[in-house]
Amino acid sequence: MTRALLPTAVVLVAALGAFPGATPVAAQQAVEPAIDSLLAEMTLEEKLGQLAQYRGRWGDTGPRVEEGGEVQIRASAVGSFLGVYGADYTRELQRVAVEESRLGIPLLFAHDVIHGFRTIFPMPLALAASFDPEGAERASRIAAVEATAHGLHWTFAPMVDLSRDPRWGRIVEGFGEDPYLGSVMAAAHVRGFQGDDLASPQTMLATAKHFVAYGGAEGGRDYNTVDISERTLWETYLPPFRAAVEAGVGAIMPAFNEIAGVPMHAHAHLIRDVLRGEWGFDGVVVSDYTGVMELIPHGVAADSAAAGVLALRAGVDIDMVSGIYVNDVPAAVRDGRLDETAVDEAVRHVLRAKQRLGLFDDPYRYNSVRPEDVTLTDESRAFARDLARRSFVLLKNDGGVLPLSKSVGTVAVIGPLADARRTMLGGWAAAGRAEDAVTPLEGVRAAVSADTRVLHAQGAEFEGEDESGFEAAVVAARQADVAVLFLGEHEEMSSEANNRTSLDLPGTQENLLRAVHETGTPVVVVLFNGRPLALPWLDENVPAILEAWFPGVEGGNAVADILFGDHGPAGKLPVSFPRNVGQVPIHYNHKNTGRPPAEGEKYTSKYIDVPWTPLYPFGHGLAYTEFEYSGLRLDAERIGPADTLGVEVTVTNAGRRASDEVVQLYVRDDVASVTRPVKELKGFERVRLEPGKSRTVSFHLPAESLAYYGLDMERVLEPGRFTVFVGASSEDVLEIGFELTE
Ligand code: NOJ
Repeated sequence: MTRALLPTAVVLVAALGAFPGATPVAAQQAVEPAIDSLLAEMTLEEKLGQLAQYRGRWGDTGPRVEEGGEVQIRASAVGSFLGVYGADYTRELQRVAVEESRLGIPLLFAHDVIHGFRTIFPMPLALAASFDPEGAERASRIAAVEATAHGLHWTFAPMVDLSRDPRWGRIVEGFGEDPYLGSVMAAAHVRGFQGDDLASPQTMLATAKHFVAYGGAEGGRDYNTVDISERTLWETYLPPFRAAVEAGVGAIMPAFNEIAGVPMHAHAHLIRDVLRGEWGFDGVVVSDYTGVMELIPHGVAADSAAAGVLALRAGVDIDMVSGIYVNDVPAAVRDGRLDETAVDEAVRHVLRAKQRLGLFDDPYRYNSVRPEDVTLTDESRAFARDLARRSFVLLKNDGGVLPLSKSVGTVAVIGPLADARRTMLGGWAAAGRAEDAVTPLEGVRAAVSADTRVLHAQGAEFEGEDESGFEAAVVAARQADVAVLFLGEHEEMSSEANNRTSLDLPGTQENLLRAVHETGTPVVVVLFNGRPLALPWLDENVPAILEAWFPGVEGGNAVADILFGDHGPAGKLPVSFPRNVGQVPIHYNHKNTGRPPAEGEKYTSKYIDVPWTPLYPFGHGLAYTEFEYSGLRLDAERIGPADTLGVEVTVTNAGRRASDEVVQLYVRDDVASVTRPVKELKGFERVRLEPGKSRTVSFHLPAESLAYYGLDMERVLEPGRFTVFVGASSEDVLEIGFELTE
């Protein structure tokens, strides 16, 4: 151990510390020379060590580095770890890095903190359904407070990949199908994780992933080829990344997929020219798990060294797990296949991230909060419950079946999800624990009156053909005044590599539902799932359907809050629910075509076996009250390119219960040089209205937001007629026109 050199590191590390009183830009300018000096001290191997990220493993008492990890740290052969956390443990590893490696550069500890660390919130798709960016921001804030107290500096979230394909299991990790909603949610998550000051010990580096178009995988098969138009790339898939960059996101992760022949880990144009060049991103680009190595099976690199060279040339700074930068790139630099400046640039990004996190000031700053003081607090749990309620979508409620009375005589609680504790948390539960979660059965029991009888029968498994549990379920339903069925998917039927070719309820669940339905007892279905399901039979036969996604640690209580009317549902679908899988991809912001679907006209764009419309459209979601929209008005009939259009609508709660409503604003460019979507979301507001009350909801639509990529793919603002739509869903709207002038 060459500890004699430590003074150099100490001097440089001090130089990389904070600059009190300086503006962020000035402070950064002052820091850059110090980063350069540190870089000048580093050997090629030490530089590449900073670019290596290794995974942890589960040890006897929690996450640990792999065997030999500490040796790597001492040898400066690693710059960061993923999946390694724990306040005391990370502090000790940090000590080894700072005191026992030659230059004493602190480590970064990263993890997938996606929708909570220990307090697990609803899945990202559910958060999108809340149309509540403040809620999403606060959830990410709480996640950061918990995660940092356990020694983490960095999360691989938010996933901002849009998807129009519910077969793709990772649709659950994103914000649905819409670029505007996706962008708003992306920025909210970044603000939540990173806060105003990344150097605070309670904020963490966020990562917008997976750059880009990962959700466009052919056939909905994860990791599969993406072949989309330049227009779709720029109009649909890139905007949420841009929003994340504008919100100051500290890291970007390239996607596993290729786009039109170029794997994203080798996509110099999108990473260097667009992300860094056009958008000015100066954070760190971290590969996805073995993404650098995967350039070999993609067929663009013959061996590891070639893969490393390609990825570094493309601008991928950190090599997650492959070990290629450390093992194979030194030779490539020495024999001239790669210019060392590409390595220096990548190292600069990593050092800058460490500096921004304040680690050169105090490498132990993330070990300063006592984990037990901030982990799974009552306040976080209460917020998780509130946010889950806000994310639920009431798909159907014929005859006002819901809410149920708390003093109902007997309620039958049926289905594989009724008491499925772990599933409540969803797929990416970080340090979440099944035992923390509240199941629907527990929620229902806690909610009903002392005189209510709660009968429970699981009825069916998630998968397989076993129908032996049906009888008990039918017996319970026969005795009950209402049967509530908790149906859907378990958490490993969506998320990474969990793709499905069917969007039906898995296993025998629909048969179970039919058997219970035949008893004549009124039926309510609560769905838990990580993707839109196709449920035409339910829609026809079940009077009340509540979509609860994967609701998180307080899921069961939140479901009961809604079922028994302590709170009303107001979430809206962030993604279209098809009638069957054959309609996929289906999305509300489609093109009109030259032969738009028309009832009774054969040669128009439709199917012969199902209607062309989704079962439940984007933006759909009912409440326990009725909202009426009236008086849609604009403050001008014409606006110029520098103007902002004022849009107002009156929303009235015409029912008998107070409720939230998500008021949605869409726009259509009626005639343009290239075809435009039939509707595009441009704004929304979640408002609360007491019964009988009306309220004016106002939107400001800057003309600039009407710009699009023209014939030559440059942004243009074309004069002409536009239609504004405002309403309760993408299908349920009032409309009015205006003109954009020269
Ligand atoms: C692979 C996933 O694609 C990515 O989203 C995740 O962050 C990494 N694994 C690390 O767990």
